[in-house]
Amino acid sequence: MLVDSSSVSSISLWCSGVLHFKIGPSGQVNRMASQCYNTAVSCEARVHVTGFDHNNGRHQFHIFRSIGPRRLMMGCSYPVEGFWKHSYPISVNTATSLSHSTPINAVLLKEALESKESDLVFPSEDFSSQALVPSRQKYLETYKKSIEDPAGFWSSIASQFYWKEKWGKQVFSENIDVSKGDVKIEWFKGGITNICYNCLDRNVEAGNGGKIAICWEGNEPNIDGSLTYSELLQKVCQLANYLKDAGVKKGDAVVIYLPMLMELPIAMLACARIGAIHSVVFAGFSADSLVQRIMDCKPKVVITCNAVKRGPKVLHLKDIVDAAISQSAKNGISIDVCLTYENQSAMTRGDTKWHQGRDIWWQDVVPKYPMTCEVEWVDAEDPLFFLYTSGSTGKPKGVLHTTGGYMVYTATTFKHAFDYKPSDVYWCTADCGWITGHSYITYGPMLNGATVVVFEGVPTYPDAGRCWDIVDKYKVTLFYTAPTLIRSLMRVGDEYVTRYSRKSLRVLGSVGEPINPSAWRWFFNVVGDSRCPISDTWWQTETGGFMITPLPGGWPQKPGSATFPFFGVQPAIVDEKGAELQGECSGYLCFKHSWPGVFRTLYGDHERYETTYFKPFPGYYFSGDGCRRDKDGYYWLTGRVDDVINVSGHRIGTAEVESALISHSQCSEAAVVGVEHEVKGQGIYAFVTLADGVPYSEELRKSLILTVRKQIGAFAAPDKIHWAPGLPKTRSGKIMRRVLRKIASRQLDELGDTSSLADPSVIDQLIALTDS
Ligand code: WTA
Repeated sequence: MLVDSSSVSSISLWCSGVLHFKIGPSGQVNRMASQCYNTAVSCEARVHVTGFDHNNGRHQFHIFRSIGPRRLMMGCSYPVEGFWKHSYPISVNTATSLSHSTPINAVLLKEALESKESDLVFPSEDFSSQALVPSRQKYLETYKKSIEDPAGFWSSIASQFYWKEKWGKQVFSENIDVSKGDVKIEWFKGGITNICYNCLDRNVEAGNGGKIAICWEGNEPNIDGSLTYSELLQKVCQLANYLKDAGVKKGDAVVIYLPMLMELPIAMLACARIGAIHSVVFAGFSADSLVQRIMDCKPKVVITCNAVKRGPKVLHLKDIVDAAISQSAKNGISIDVCLTYENQSAMTRGDTKWHQGRDIWWQDVVPKYPMTCEVEWVDAEDPLFFLYTSGSTGKPKGVLHTTGGYMVYTATTFKHAFDYKPSDVYWCTADCGWITGHSYITYGPMLNGATVVVFEGVPTYPDAGRCWDIVDKYKVTLFYTAPTLIRSLMRVGDEYVTRYSRKSLRVLGSVGEPINPSAWRWFFNVVGDSRCPISDTWWQTETGGFMITPLPGGWPQKPGSATFPFFGVQPAIVDEKGAELQGECSGYLCFKHSWPGVFRTLYGDHERYETTYFKPFPGYYFSGDGCRRDKDGYYWLTGRVDDVINVSGHRIGTAEVESALISHSQCSEAAVVGVEHEVKGQGIYAFVTLADGVPYSEELRKSLILTVRKQIGAFAAPDKIHWAPGLPKTRSGKIMRRVLRKIASRQLDELGDTSSLADPSVIDQLIALTDS
């Protein structure tokens, strides 16, 4: 129905920022000079509008729901100033056939699985009115402050934490421009604090010692536990005292190889308490990967457990650690202490292999230590942890984060991106072995005094309803996960979700890779009952915390877009020459200036830090991701532009997989590319050239895959091995990956120009072997 202005005396547009629109006499949307936000004015019917399309140049407003008589609320948001340069004729599409109780967004969103840039999903009025950032206007005001006066903005937030001594005159100093000298970033330098103190003691002292800090859910649904903030503090202190006794001092490294037991965050916090630097290694990494990390930071102590059950499988973690420690010893690094937690539900002591003198049962020693432990006060710029991430060479990069800026940034991003309230129960399905578990299981939530669910098991055990069982069991309000999990649960059907209430859920979150609109819609409609905003948070191990993210309640979402930059974050999309692009554009995602949570170096390799992140586009931090900004200013991440693939949200360097394959005695050459994968986002596709005279065989294929599992971990195993008599190379010997990507994704008519290949016939051979 085309709105006849005579039937609408005036309307209120849910609009953000500085513009006010009104339906004029001829059905035009006119720009009005005044500022407005949610001005309620009367008109024919009160309806809730949650989207608009372009329809032959017209803006069409979907009116979904009559929510009362005599008021028309129209939904539209114009995030970029200046977007409304003209008046637009509009038509209003009333969905009169929909009953009031229909989950309206679901109806609309299910119509189209492909997202259109103009599909907007609005937060409900109820949600926005209680949100920390209730409007785009409020966001813009705060954002402006954070950019114009970063020192003032961040220091006023930092002041909410405990500092034994305040930072010096300069809140931050930075040089990110390689042409002006070494890259150096410091925040709150001279400030003396401790992140463990701020996570635990500060909350206990504020009277929240009795609040649950961790709800732990075991692999088996009937095994669980919990710790209050006071209890957690006591456990952390006991371990901290033990570590000190074992000789760990400020600045020493501790390697932690644990599954998702409460002991994992306990171990991280205990290190932080005594100023030790933790290096958590995801307990899915192989012994070889663990060796690499041990060799890099030379820890005094390794903390692990004997085994873990993940779903029906028992994984013998201690065996992996044993192999790694003996390999490290051969390489000259010996580990004196291997503190081992007895994870009784997976394996008993009796069955655990033991190295007398080196191995110590956690339960035998740690509980004997005092439940209080003096804090080691550290400088804001003292290191907090190393975390390794893949790059475009075979050697993983040891990302180093420091204390003060990371603390302030993770706490603030957590609070805003999830619209955190003290009554919330938060569950992040990630593992503490990845950055998400560092920033948004341990530090960010605990700095806010939140109740955090820690889950040991897998989302499909005992069945695919486990997540929602846990949500109902703990009344989870904030649920943060990865697109790969959403896609895998989507495939098994809605009934695993709908059999649970999920009434407690308030905000959903996604991280790890671009979330495809159909997964977004399923997450929104089915899991969140079309009620919970989704925070699609874009960030990286290197950034420490969220960079581009919705602030739920603040503005409408577009399925698949991470929306807008967080406070203090200044994205720039640049072209291949490094020129910053304006307005609607696509290019490389960079950032101007530092923010408190950014990493300070790659451990032991500052040069690689500069080369990888700051030299590609001088003057900027380069993320390695491609990005598009639409006409409304929304950011759409388009994936990695370097030789890194993102498998189930895990970054894997193609070079790492290649070097593992090449280490196989029968492999002479390998080239790895990413291909689209329905569940994992990207799958690993390996072209393998065998040594002379070695025949292809199924057995060899398996053995190559096993080599990668052994050297990196099961999550890096290639999905496909493509036998390659030769690889397409340029005359200078460079492998033409572009061509391999096309062959891998069967886009054989899009191979492009191959005239510069040394031997173009290689391509026909590869295609002939495509389905072998
Ligand atoms: C990708 C994980 C699109 C991206 C926190 C980035 C995303 C890499 C998103 C970092 C998202 C992460 N939308 N892409 N919401 N979140 N990525 O270091 O390619 O394991 O560069 O950190 O994941 O992966 P990392």
